[in-house]
This record gives sequence, structure tokens and C-alpha cells, in this order.
Amino acid sequence: MILGKIIGKVSTNNFDFNVTSAQARKLQFIQVNHTDYDYVLCQIMELERTSDEMVAHCNVIGYKDASDGRVKGIRTPFQLGTEVLEAEDSFIKKIIELQREGAYIGKLEGKNIPINIDLQKVLTKHLSVLAKSGSGKSYFVGVLLEEIMTKNVPLLIIDPHGEYSSMRLPNDSGKDHLIEWNLEAKGFSPQIQEYGDPKVKEDIIPLKLDEKMTSYELMKMLPISLTGNQEAMLFSVVKDLEDVNFDNILIGLELLNYPGKWALIDTIMYLKSLNLFTPAPTDPNELIKPGKCTIINLRGISPEVQDIIVYKLMKDLFHARKQEKIPPFFCVLEEAHNFAPEKGFGKAKSTDIIRLISSEGRKFGLGLCIISQRPALVQKTILAQCSTQVILKVNNPNDLRALTSSIEGITSETAAEIPNLPIGSALVCGVVDRPLIVKIRPRKSKHGGEAVNILGSSNAKGEENKGVREIVDKEDYQKDVVEESQQFAKQNLLMIIKPQLSIKEIKLISAQPVKNITTYLIPALYFTVEFQGMKVNLLIDKVGGKIITNPDKDLKHDISNISSESNFLRKPVFESIEYDVKLDGRVGPDNVKSELKQFCTILDWKECFIVYYKVEY
Ligand SMILES: Nc1ncnc2c1ncn2[C@@H]1O[C@H](COP(=O)(O)OP(=O)(O)OP(=O)(O)O)[C@@H](O)[C@H]1O
Ligand SMILES: [Mg+2]
Repeated sequence: MILGKIIGKVSTNNFDFNVTSAQARKLQFIQVNHTDYDYVLCQIMELERTSDEMVAHCNVIGYKDASDGRVKGIRTPFQLGTEVLEAEDSFIKKIIELQREGAYIGKLEGKNIPINIDLQKVLTKHLSVLAKSGSGKSYFVGVLLEEIMTKNVPLLIIDPHGEYSSMRLPNDSGKDHLIEWNLEAKGFSPQIQEYGDPKVKEDIIPLKLDEKMTSYELMKMLPISLTGNQEAMLFSVVKDLEDVNFDNILIGLELLNYPGKWALIDTIMYLKSLNLFTPAPTDPNELIKPGKCTIINLRGISPEVQDIIVYKLMKDLFHARKQEKIPPFFCVLEEAHNFAPEKGFGKAKSTDIIRLISSEGRKFGLGLCIISQRPALVQKTILAQCSTQVILKVNNPNDLRALTSSIEGITSETAAEIPNLPIGSALVCGVVDRPLIVKIRPRKSKHGGEAVNILGSSNAKGEENKGVREIVDKEDYQKDVVEESQQFAKQNLLMIIKPQLSIKEIKLISAQPVKNITTYLIPALYFTVEFQGMKVNLLIDKVGGKIITNPDKDLKHDISNISSESNFLRKPVFESIEYDVKLDGRVGPDNVKSELKQFCTILDWKECFIVYYKVEY
């Protein structure tokens, strides 16, 4: 259907047409013939009536380049007088369909046309989700996570409000809405594992960070800024230490003869008292697992400690990923303005590592999802690294400016639509070169974002904020993230206590020929306890509930006979293992814990398997 003809000033981004049909509507998709590119998809952004005519202001979306299948903007403007037609659905579909694996996030506004965002792009080149509070950021991210979970790509969610664990449950209250969309409610309980502070929430796995750290990490983590003297003191202690951990530093500091040492000792005692740092930290492989969605629930933890956790965790995970110890993964960072604030709007310890991941993560297959209700307060350089942007309703003029200047291809007409976006609709930039308005699909799982927003909204100072887009030309992650996750999943990684001798070594040193070796996995618990003022590691098997001192020689004793000799020196490691027999545990962790508590204080514990080789001659 012909809607009118092009008039006035025409550019490669915008044009106007004289409306001759009563069918023309705001945000309607139109197609216009171009002398070089055949039909080009465009959209009516505004309609204006004067006394004698109606004019439509339009944006150009693009045409599909047959040579590479990509949607591109036009290089020369349309001819004046060209007819403007209502776009056919089949034409729109052809333009916006994806060549690669996509995540189904919703439908094109006003059309029954599904929108998929490019998963490989999102997983490696980052995504930002920006909008004012209560406009549907977390809801949308839940939609995206549901899609990623079905592909088995590991997920990590930094969740300051503890709102994502509701994804375990199906969206029962939204059943009717789901039926309209031909979808079914679904909970993701088997995929979700939640870490955090068990004092705040029951049934949560305690998150433990590595107490081993470099002197730089230690200085970075201290919640006070050090004076020159304090820095010198700390350095003089740390430089002689083989293992930089709190206990060793405290011993070193106490030996010093400076009165200024006490403030430093106090601060380190504070970090120690958080009970976050241990010699047996949560292994990166426990957190980043194919098919698992790990929630780091920071609810109830002070902002200062949240910052320390995010800093250390992200640093250790980035390091593990660079060494390919863990699979590629996607990390969701809620309230990003608190962890990566723009200069002049606060300081955070985690900023540098988040910026590093935003610029380098793409080389290693580490994708970030940056979420914020105050885009103007998030580091511009980090936002500029996000190749896909999802924008929901924003009113604040500073935030609007920060957004529009950091997004390529956004016209003033599109920007004008952002404050008008209804709940449930988003401007999605990155599916094609130009932003599209998408009606977000309903959640299959339960949304938990109804929680009160404890952070409040604004601390903007009304400063000008010109988000300069930094194009960083870096080598991209070439491998298919989804496929690589599947390969990691096949490895069968387990937390194990390895025998002192390998099968090869046993065969080599054996006096008589070895007929057969059977590998047993014995379920066990690895505890760190305080016993008579000392930190002691205990290995307790779940078959007999005894303290094992040497699993290779089957040396063990009762828990009641605990002594300093019970200290088990080998640490559990995450490794891929082939085994013949896996024994069942008969003693649960709760029973062991209550027995242990009679003799010592439990600092930390985790499940593991003892690997035992039974040799037949
Ligand atoms: N696509 C949608 N479909 C239906 N309801 C939605 C949609 N998006 C958001 N909502 C509703 O809006 C409410 C607020 O959404 P959400 O919690 O995602 O906001 P938010 O932007 O994350 O806010 P905050 O900045 O406070 O975290 C939700 O509880 C939900 O009821
Ligand atoms: Mg939210």
C-alpha cells in the first residue's frame, strides 16, 4: 500500500514524506525503493499535521547486503518523489532475521515478528541494559538468561538485591500472558546455584575467596586509603612473606615497632573477621560450570564488602578464564554504577577489573551484561564496549544524553521515543545497525524484582556527560561459545583429593607385576577448623564419618580423637577424573558438623571425593 511520496531534505539517516493514506501510523515499518539497494526498510518516527497536509518523519533502518547477509545503512539518500510503501511482514523478517544462533527476546513492536539477538555477539562483545528504576531491566535480563541457560553456557550473576533466585520457580502468575505468546511457564531450579552469606539466607552456599593474595591485591582490598607510612609498613611485612595471607601479615605487623601499626592491624582484623577469605576458597570451576547459573547473592552485605567481593571474584575468574581453566561464561552485573562508577561519581575497587574485562574479555569469551538505572554514572569507557544495548524507559536528561552519545546510529527521533517507552517495551540496538523497538516476551520463570530498591536513585550532579564512543579494535573471540561450553561439560570435573602416587608411578615402583587397578571415589568433607588456637584442615569420609589422615594407607581415627596430628595437608582440587566405582556417603554433613562442634570451631567446609586406587597383584 502506498502511504505517500518523499519530500523536502533527504539524508542517509532520515527523510520526510507527504502522507496521502489514512493508514500511516507512528512507528510503522515502511519500505522504500533505492536506486542502488533495491528495497530499504525504514520506520515512521513521528507524524505532523499542518493546516493542509500531513508529513511523516522517518528513520532509515537498512537493507540486506546479499554478499555477506548483513544489514547495512544506505550510502546515498533516496530520490525525492520516491513512493513510500507499508512494509510487508516477509520483507521485515528478511531484514531482521539472524544468520547465527539467537536468543528469542520478544517481538517487533506492533508486529508478529520474532526478534532474536545474536548470542555469540552478546556472549563475547557485551551487552548493556539501561533504564530508570522499575522499568523492566531485571525482567528483561531474566528473559535473556532463560535463553542462555537452554544453551548450557555458564552464567554468573552479581546480584546485590538477591532477586534472581526466583528464577528457580515457574512464572505461575503469568500463565495467561505466556499462553498468548505460545510459551510455557518453567522454573530453572536444576540449573541455579546460589552463593552468598548463609547468615543472611538459609540454603545458600557460603562464598569463600582465596586468602592467598598478592601484596597489590591486599592493598587494593583494604577498606581504608593508606597513609604513606602505613603503606611502607605493610610493604616491609609483605616483602618477606612467602604466603601473603591475613594471619602472616598480622604476625609481621605486630612485630613492628611503629605506633601507626594499630589502625592497619584493625583494618586487616576487620577483613579477616568477615569470614570470607579461606585457604580452601570456592573453586572457579564450582562457580563457572556449563549448564549452571551461579548467583552471587550480595543481599545483606555492606556495599563496601560487596565491592571487595566483586573485585576479588572477578579478578580470580578472569585469571582462570585466561588460563582456560574454566569455560567461556557470561557475567551479569546488576547496579553497575556502584561497581564501575564514572569518574567524579564515586570510587570502587572493582572498577579496574570490570573495565579490563570489558575491553579484553572479548578475546577470551567472557561476556558482560552491564545493568544500571543511572547510565550517566557508569564509566563511559565500559558502556562504549557494549556492542548490544537494550534501553528501556529513561527520563533523566543526563542519562538520556549519556545513552544517545554512546549508541551508534541513534537519531534524535529515536532518542525522543525513549521517555515514551511503555513497560515491557525496549529499544534494542545491535540486532541490526539501527535501533528497533521490541516488545519483550513474558518470563517463563518467576521474576523476583519486586524487591524494594534499597539504593535509591539519584546522586547525579547535573554535569554534562558526553559519552565518547571508544572504538577499541581488538582481536575477537573466534570460537563458538556455545560449542566450547558443551566440550567443557563433557570433562566430568570433580573436587578431588588426589592420591600421592599416580597409576603410572604405582606400576613403576611396584616390586611385583600389577594385575589390575580399580579407581574408587570416596565421598568426603574437607573442613577448616580452629582447634586449640590453631587452624587445622580435616578430611572426613562420608562412608564411616572418620577423620582420614592418610587416605592412601587408610589411616583414620574417630572425630573425638582430634589432635594437631589430624591436620590434612593436601588440598582438594577440581580435576577431570575417570573412575570405576563411586561409593555412596552414609554420613551427612550436618551430623559431622554437630559432632565436630563439640571439639573445635568450624571455619569453612566443602564436599569432595577421595580418589583411592585399589591395586591387585
Ligand atoms: N516485559 C515485561 N512484561 C511484563 N511485566 C514487566 C516487564 N518488564 C517489567 N515488568 C514489570 O515491571 C516491574 C519492574 O521491573 P524490573 O524489576 O525488571 O525493573 P528494574 O528496571 O530492574 O528496576 P530496578 O532498577 O529498581 O531494579 C516488574 O516487577 C514487572 O512486574
Ligand atoms: Mg532490577
